[in-house]
Amino acid sequence: MPAFSRIAIVGDGNVGTALTQGLTRAGHEVQAVGREPGRVKELAQWGEVVVLAVPFAERQNALREMGDAIQGKVLVDVTNAVGKEGYVGNLQKSGAEEVQEWARGARVVKAFNTVFAQNMGTGQVHGERISAFVAADDEGAKRRVLQLAEGIGFDPVDAGPLKNARWLEPAAMLNMQLGYGAGLGPSIGLKLVHEGSRAASAERQGQRLSGTR
Ligand SMILES: NC(=O)c1ccc[n+]([C@@H]2O[C@H](COP(=O)([O-])OP(=O)(O)OC[C@H]3O[C@@H](n4cnc5c(N)ncnc54)[C@H](OP(=O)(O)O)[C@@H]3O)[C@@H](O)[C@H]2O)c1
Repeated sequence: MPAFSRIAIVGDGNVGTALTQGLTRAGHEVQAVGREPGRVKELAQWGEVVVLAVPFAERQNALREMGDAIQGKVLVDVTNAVGKEGYVGNLQKSGAEEVQEWARGARVVKAFNTVFAQNMGTGQVHGERISAFVAADDEGAKRRVLQLAEGIGFDPVDAGPLKNARWLEPAAMLNMQLGYGAGLGPSIGLKLVHEGSRAASAERQGQRLSGTR
C-alpha cells in the first residue's frame, strides 16, 4: 500500500472534519466536501480512497452524485442507521451492504462508525487507543483502511466480512446510548482487548517505565 493516500471525504460535518484532521496529521492528502453536487463528483474522482460521511438518509443521493467516479475505489462507509425516530437499521441487511449494492463497482469497507466524531481525529480516549472495527469483503481494501485507522492512532481490528456491519451498526447505537442515553458523554470509546492490543499496550507501558515516552 502507498504510504500516503489522496482521501476524499463526502460530508464535511462532525465526522468529515474529525477524519480530515486525523488523516491529515497521519500524512495523507485530504479534502472534504458538503452538499455541492458538481464538486462531490470532482472530489470522488480525485480521491484514491473515498469516505462516505453523510446522514443515513442521504447515502443514495451522495452516491448518485459521485456516479462512476468511485468505480474500483475503496469506499469507506462511516454512516450509522439513525433517522428521526432513532435506529432504522436492519439485522438482515446492513447499511453497508446496501451501499455495496448501490455502488457495485466500489470496494466498500465499514469503518469508524462505532466511534464518536469527538474521538475520530485521534483514535484515543483518556490516553487509550480505542478500537477501529473494519469490515469488508475485499481484503486489499480492508487492509488499506486498517492502516489508515492505525495511522490516525486507533487500535485497528479486522472485523471480518462486510456483512458483519450488521453488528457494527447496532454497536454504534450502544456507544450512543452510553454516551448520551446513560450520560457518560462523548469522551468514551469501545475497545476490544485482543492479542494485538495487549502487545501494543505492554510495549507502551514498557516505554513509560523506561522513560522513552
Ligand atoms: N457524529 C458522530 O459522532 C458520528 C460517529 C460515527 C458515525 N457517524 C455517522 O456519520 C455520518 C455523518 O455524521 P456527522 O455527525 O458528520 O453529520 P453532520 O455533522 O450532520 O454532517 C453531515 C454532512 O453531510 C453533508 N451532506 C448531506 N447530504 C449530502 C449529499 N447528498 N452530498 C454530500 N454531502 C452531503 C452535510 O452537508 P449540509 O450541512 O449541507 O447538509 C454535512 O456536511 C452519519 O451517517 C452519522 O450517523 C456520526
